[in-house]
Amino acid sequence: ALERTLSIIKPDAVAKNVIGEIYSRFEKVGLKIAAAKMKQLSRAEAEGFYAVHRERPFFNALVEFMISGPVMIQVLEGENAVLKHRDLMGATNPKEAAAGTIRADFADSIDANAVHGSDAAETAAFEIAYFFPSTDVYGR
Ligand code: CMP
Repeated sequence: ALERTLSIIKPDAVAKNVIGEIYSRFEKVGLKIAAAKMKQLSRAEAEGFYAVHRERPFFNALVEFMISGPVMIQVLEGENAVLKHRDLMGATNPKEAAAGTIRADFADSIDANAVHGSDAAETAAFEIAYFFPSTDVYGR
């Protein structure tokens, strides 16, 4: 099915200057960039985005990391976009990520793991709306 998913290039990967390299990987598998912006998240924005993780032991470290520098946020659109994007990213822990995935190539740790992607279509709808009004998403 034609889907949309939310992608975030995290502060570590922005600092490594690999935004274009990561965008190329999206484009090579046919994922289209339907919206994009660079943003320094406030603490409240990061906490709200990751609200489902609020009770997890890593929540505070996650929020601190996500506000440590600007992130690049995009909506990706394409056939099976959610799964396609997750395959490109690789496992959450870069030590477990398959060779050739974004996290295997650019992530340093489970906290500084280069990218975020929605885990399901329902999550994607929430995450996209969290950052982009529907008028700013250009499906095509
Ligand atoms: P992300 O896909 O952005 O969603 C939540 C983030 O929490 C995850 O990527 C990791 O960077 C971070 N995190 C840190 N520790 C863990 C953990 N034990 N399990 C899952 N996510 C973790």
